[in-house]
Amino acid sequence: MSSNYSLSICCLGAGYVGGPTMAMIAAKCPDIKVTVCDPNEARIAAWNSDTLPVYEPGLQQVVESARGRNLFFSTDVKEAIRHSEIIFVSVGTPTKTFGVGAGRAADLKYIESAARMIAEVAEGPKIIVEKSTIPVRTASAMITILQSNSKNGTFQVLSNPEFLAEGTAVEDLENPDRVLIGGEQTPEGLAAIEKVVSIYARWIPRDKILATNLWSSELSKLVANAFLAQRISSINSISALCEATGADVEEVARAIGHDSRIGPKFLKASVGFGGSCFQKDILNLSYLCEHFGLPEVAAYWQSVVTMNDWQKSRFSGRMVSDLFNTVTGKQIGILGFAFKKDTNDTRETPAISVCRDLLSEGAKVYVYDPQVSEVQIRAEVLGTETNPNLVVVKSALEACKGAHGVAVLTEWDEFKTLDFQKIHDDMLKPAFLFDGRNVLPHESLRTIGFRVFAIGKPF
Ligand SMILES: NC(=O)c1ccc[n+]([C@@H]2O[C@H](COP(=O)([O-])OP(=O)(O)OC[C@H]3O[C@@H](n4cnc5c(N)ncnc54)[C@H](O)[C@@H]3O)[C@@H](O)[C@H]2O)c1
Repeated sequence: MSSNYSLSICCLGAGYVGGPTMAMIAAKCPDIKVTVCDPNEARIAAWNSDTLPVYEPGLQQVVESARGRNLFFSTDVKEAIRHSEIIFVSVGTPTKTFGVGAGRAADLKYIESAARMIAEVAEGPKIIVEKSTIPVRTASAMITILQSNSKNGTFQVLSNPEFLAEGTAVEDLENPDRVLIGGEQTPEGLAAIEKVVSIYARWIPRDKILATNLWSSELSKLVANAFLAQRISSINSISALCEATGADVEEVARAIGHDSRIGPKFLKASVGFGGSCFQKDILNLSYLCEHFGLPEVAAYWQSVVTMNDWQKSRFSGRMVSDLFNTVTGKQIGILGFAFKKDTNDTRETPAISVCRDLLSEGAKVYVYDPQVSEVQIRAEVLGTETNPNLVVVKSALEACKGAHGVAVLTEWDEFKTLDFQKIHDDMLKPAFLFDGRNVLPHESLRTIGFRVFAIGKPF
């Protein structure tokens, strides 16, 4: 460890979680050397450049305040492990695509290979911190791998799941609702917890830092995401009932949200939830319940994902039926592709299934997103295939020009202030607008002449 620093820590994985969380620690603790390492050379080069691989408001400033001082990005994972006392593991834990549990269980291959690499390189005592979202009891597998493969390392494994939300990552890291740290309830485990607590305590009040046992911490992350996603699926299910009855889902949400037991947050109906976490974590939770002999609990949580899938296909189905039951050969503008505003993340974004549904109906789909590249949009929708009917354009006006219908799929602020009169003038008539995020001024759009469909709203 360099004598200039009081402590050296590193993080395996320079993704949406590893990069921002470590940048915040480095910014808040100038005496701690923080190395974020990842074998992905392009990603590390981007973290070391002016164009970060993750778009988050305020992140550039946080990174620049510490980079080169006590924040380093490197592809040399082994070197970082060797020189760090605390090793955060923030690698991906996607849903398995084959084998036992395919489509539901978490694929832990990156976690396992990280543990094997740590065991191979580590000398002396190390604290390993699970930051990735993992199935409950993963720590025991990590401990077994570490202890069975290390010559002279000793290990404490902690769970410190990350609760940041993309789009507000910097705000969430600066002022989190809570930080959760789980560890073994032994003197060594408690000492390791205290060591990690003392890092966060530099800027987060101690009463917001919760210490628990390992399994509670691991499980709490899955449960938090399951509860959040459940609220979205619940209000989305009600949006369908509102459309059928003439109730307004925003009025219903406001009415129930005033109940302090329910609360107003996360009650916004939409085309569906996306992002890399909600679906995968619920599927994983449901799989775990089955594994532990609780099929009814598994089915309960699985229904949250089923409702989300239905909401997405209900939206594209509605587009087709409003457009006189055919979109074949028609141009459809798609405004927004990211799974939410203020991020360039497109994993599991509802836009993927809406675009695919429209393409399969023979539509020409013109997509615009302010932060997502053409390559990324094509890869998400088409994989390795090509389809000339998918066109990625550079402005909202371009996406709408000549279109029969336009759908808003991400709530980017810039869509609220578009020149809708011009858009209407440039579209074929009747001009249809499908607001999948309920962010547009529907009444004034109707005055212009649009036929507007909005989620859970009366017509
Ligand atoms: N994205 C979110 O909003 C969010 C929020 C909370 C928790 N999480 C969880 O955090 C974890 C990471 O998510 P993410 O979105 O940052 O993933 P990501 O895919 O953006 O990044 C993971 C990175 O880990 C790297 N990696 C794989 N094996 C490695 C190894 N052995 N050593 C070093 N690096 C390695 C990969 O190259 C990749 O760049 C997941 O478990 C996820 O569920 C994500």
